Amino acid sequence: MAGNKNLNSAARAKNDEFYTQYDDIQRELNCYYIYDENFLRDKTVLLPCDDPEWSNFTKFFALNFELYGLKKLISTSYAADKKKFIYKPMRNLFDDWDEPQFDESKDFSHGRIYTLEQNDLGKVDYPLKALNRWEYLEGDGDFRSAEVKKLRDEADVIITNPPFSMFREFLAWILEANKKFLIIGNINCITYKEVFPLIKDNKIWLGNGMGRWISGFLVPEDYELYGTEARLSEEGRIVSTNQCLWLTNLEHGKRHRPLQLMTYKDCEQFHPKIRGVGFQKYDNYDAIEVPATDAIPRDYNGVMGVPITFLDKYCPEQFEIIGATESEGTGFSNGLWHDDSKFKQATINGQKVYKRLFIRRRLANGGQ
Ligand SMILES: C[S@@+](CC[C@H](N)C(=O)[O-])C[C@H]1O[C@@H](n2cnc3c(N)ncnc32)[C@H](O)[C@@H]1O
Repeated sequence: MAGNKNLNSAARAKNDEFYTQYDDIQRELNCYYIYDENFLRDKTVLLPCDDPEWSNFTKFFALNFELYGLKKLISTSYAADKKKFIYKPMRNLFDDWDEPQFDESKDFSHGRIYTLEQNDLGKVDYPLKALNRWEYLEGDGDFRSAEVKKLRDEADVIITNPPFSMFREFLAWILEANKKFLIIGNINCITYKEVFPLIKDNKIWLGNGMGRWISGFLVPEDYELYGTEARLSEEGRIVSTNQCLWLTNLEHGKRHRPLQLMTYKDCEQFHPKIRGVGFQKYDNYDAIEVPATDAIPRDYNGVMGVPITFLDKYCPEQFEIIGATESEGTGFSNGLWHDDSKFKQATINGQKVYKRLFIRRRLANGGQ
């Protein structure tokens, strides 16, 4: 048991050193830009928990600084001494570049900061070479430090893939400063008690994709690669987790596109998961079970339990989120749970069903 615990915390620590690929950042950011090409215009963007000298986030925003019309870009990193695993990129952007600011006495104990401002554009060899103008931070770059908090307060938008093990704390750190954000998290974060109520109230939402939308993360060299979920690429060692999503409070178009759905009757007749069994009722929640997003009947007025992956297709004009199963937080089901039930997980004829969200349609005829 103790061995397992150590293994789990070692795995978690390694997940804190998963690095995001350029294509995945570009694919997600494009969706906001297409929706509103001024979404970052004249804004200060902070990329905390990053690595100015080689991170793909820093590289992406430096390259797109002018296209996005940014006012200022700030990227900070965590001191190497504090990292549980050191990620050594195969291709360091600055291998053969002069870095006069390099200081051996600070290199492991201090974080780094890189800033780019509109005024710099004419002065530096822009865009990529400008990246080697990083400086050392006063401290280790911990996002909770007063130094990085000050940068947070200066920023309009915070974008990063934060350490997975500190996700809840990191989100709270953003929200306490009331900032716009776009971050990567684990799919399970949807039902965290710190996250779900905000999603339910449409204060935060999923970005443009989850699961395979994020094609994989670059991992440290000593990360063991196994199975089909791991590969080597030009950029380094990649692990495809299929378990992550983008979380945001920035507007994008996908969330306003209603789902095309069948009627209740058609689902009963044609949907492979409904045909023959019909829509079943839970034993312990006042709702019907809908086992797949495409089996949501567009003309049903009652409460429906749907898989949490529904959120990837959720259009707030089409459906209202009522709650979720109680397994993650008491009171999540908004009174739908029969509290004399032995189980917080939903059951049908005594059989447990995986985590569910409860939804109800808003628009007449499901918006169609
Ligand atoms: C999941 S990695 C992602 C890095 C980078 N943002 C990217 O997506 O490529 C998280 C980074 O946060 C750093 N980190 C861990 N704890 C931190 C803390 N308390 N403050 C700031 N950074 C931290 C890790 O060392 C790691 O570099």
